Amino acid sequence: MKLSNALSLLTDLRIGISIAIIPTLKAILWNPTLLFRPRALSRIFMANLWMTFGPGVDSSAKAVKEGLITPNAYGIVLDIGAGHGHSVLYLNRARVSRYIALEPNVLMHEHIRANANAAGYHESAGTLVILSCGAEDTKSILNSLSLIAPTHTSGQPQLVDTIISILTLCTIPEPQKTLTNLVRDVLKNGGQFLVYEHVLSKREDVAWWQRFWAPIWAIAFDGCRMDRPSDVWVEELTLDGKASAWRESKTWLKDDDHEENLFFHSVGRFVKA
Ligand SMILES: C[S@@+](CC[C@H](N)C(=O)[O-])C[C@H]1O[C@@H](n2cnc3c(N)ncnc32)[C@H](O)[C@@H]1O
Repeated sequence: MKLSNALSLLTDLRIGISIAIIPTLKAILWNPTLLFRPRALSRIFMANLWMTFGPGVDSSAKAVKEGLITPNAYGIVLDIGAGHGHSVLYLNRARVSRYIALEPNVLMHEHIRANANAAGYHESAGTLVILSCGAEDTKSILNSLSLIAPTHTSGQPQLVDTIISILTLCTIPEPQKTLTNLVRDVLKNGGQFLVYEHVLSKREDVAWWQRFWAPIWAIAFDGCRMDRPSDVWVEELTLDGKASAWRESKTWLKDDDHEENLFFHSVGRFVKA
């Protein structure tokens, strides 16, 4: 791998730190107890950083999202790690009845609300729901679903038709367990899992650099790990002793990704068996 490619993320790190450090220090000055609450501090840093990075990351993935989300998402959609809710802008309003944005960083919620409202989803109409729990907290997700969506005739909580995971499996804790629980307990049978993630490279030299940078990158980007084989975890997911959790699956790559990109992406549409 070329050294220039291996070191390319230093530019992003430098820009990220220069954007987020001053507002984060200001927040500490206002509230020094943040120094003892690293999780809250990390979220303040990430919220400031995402104001600049979010729109750029979204526009660089526009073609992918138009191919993945727009033609496929339907019914009740759960967007895990919604960030600023950029994904809502790719939903087909006629096919998606309700947008549930799960985002534990509450500092991002106002952006989700603004984007969702622009796309025609409103909390007052029950078509927009913003959850502040983590994706690993399936109990809270199911509780919220039973409150916001009509109960299924079987008496079971209403489940979702589509789960969207855009650049989130890199960050959530215990990703394999969380993925299993979400697909098993929250997604309907026949529902879809739409995923776009940066993943561990299949090239050993690139993977070496990803593992090298991962702990440093995670400090600045709210725990985001660049060394997770999330694509493999999704593809190989099994449930309840079945050979595969999926009855249909299709994966593809982002057109303009160079194979030496430290943030090499994988895209996929999976239908639950
Ligand atoms: C890289 S951002 C991606 C945001 C958005 N999906 C997008 O594509 O613009 C990752 C998001 O995951 C969120 N996140 C962090 N911990 C999480 C968790 N436990 N469950 C769900 N999302 C989480 C972060 O707050 C952040 O907004």
